[in-house]
Amino acid sequence: MAKDPVRVLVTGAAGQIGYALVPMIARGVMLGADQPVILHMLDIPPAAEALNGVKMELVDAAFPLLKGVVATTDVVEACTGVNIAVMVGGFPRKEGMERKDVMSKNVSIYKSQASALEKHAAANCKVLVVANPANTNALILKEFAPSIPEKNISCLTRLDHNRALGQISERLNVQVSDVKNVIIWGNHSSTQYPDVNHATVRTPAGEKAVRELVADDAWLNGEFITTVQQRGAAIIKARKLSSALSAASAACDHIRDWVLGTPEGTWVSMGVYSDGSYNVPAGLIYSFPGTWVSMGVYSDGSYNVPAGLIYSFPVYCQNGEWKIVQGLSIDEFSRKKLDLTAEELSEEKALAYSCLS
Ligand code: NAD
Ligand code: LMR
Repeated sequence: MAKDPVRVLVTGAAGQIGYALVPMIARGVMLGADQPVILHMLDIPPAAEALNGVKMELVDAAFPLLKGVVATTDVVEACTGVNIAVMVGGFPRKEGMERKDVMSKNVSIYKSQASALEKHAAANCKVLVVANPANTNALILKEFAPSIPEKNISCLTRLDHNRALGQISERLNVQVSDVKNVIIWGNHSSTQYPDVNHATVRTPAGEKAVRELVADDAWLNGEFITTVQQRGAAIIKARKLSSALSAASAACDHIRDWVLGTPEGTWVSMGVYSDGSYNVPAGLIYSFPGTWVSMGVYSDGSYNVPAGLIYSFPVYCQNGEWKIVQGLSIDEFSRKKLDLTAEELSEEKALAYSCLS
């Protein structure tokens, strides 16, 4: 029997990420090839004509899974009944603007859209904030939509996670799909910490540690980290526009894994027959980790990250819920980096509140 359509909101849908994202959603990239969708697209009045153009193209593309399109500048109409909300709309930094000016514009947008989502979205709506400052916008949304459970509000760091996978795959000349369990800790900013200490590559002889295969700690602790941290700026320099197709694709990955589960994503570890992975002797029944991904989620104090921040952690997803992967060892080098990005987020939180007062 055909599934009921899922209503997916994309704010800022007339912008660059929106233009890349809505066809992916309509093709089933986000929710699966058997999941019909109804797209809700929101933008602001100056972009209304462009938004209508996007709607016309969606009709022209004749996507079989697309069961309806709502294109509107009315936030209540946009939020009504949505099951998933991808918040891409925001105010870009313009020449002469201070960081505080951008923060001030965006936190007031996220405060008002929080109320609309809280009042009009479907119960249990899952929210992904993409617009920058993504973690802090998500935090403001959480604070001003107190009836949306905090576990339903997240921000996008999957793009950074995918960038880290891409860098390792290029360096080792292996398939990106064979690399897993990198971690992005913290803020979607240049203080984020891309961590490969638990990352592995699938090889014919089982899973091998990235550190062992790369065998160059100076690169892994230096250039690799800064390349991932500054990849967004490098894209802007090359394209004269910020990343869009990779951001849209990462947003689909984030929601897909959240809703449908991380690959072999168990938060109960399973004892299985060892094939020599992680240098565990072959022939033992041994408990191995599944695949985790990075999501910006509300900190519960795990890994001594202050509670009350939206911070990127490694997570497993199952049955539509995420759980922070627990028990990973954090060395002194990593500890400093986890703390540094947490400090930046605490400062952003204080700045956001000062803008609202
Ligand atoms: P863009 O300027 O092309 O599009 C933004 C759209 O938002 C515009 O159409 C604009 O009219 C609309 N908008 C502005 N205020 C709005 C409001 N109040 N309600 C609804 N829509 C509104 O920008 P883009 O390249 O699509 O990027 C969007 C955001 O995503 C930016 O903040 C960017 O920095 C961020 N971004 C985040 C990541 C990430 O990984 N988290 C990656 C890339 C970009
Ligand atoms: C990115 O990571 O590509 C973006 O967040 C960059 C930006 O500043 O928009």
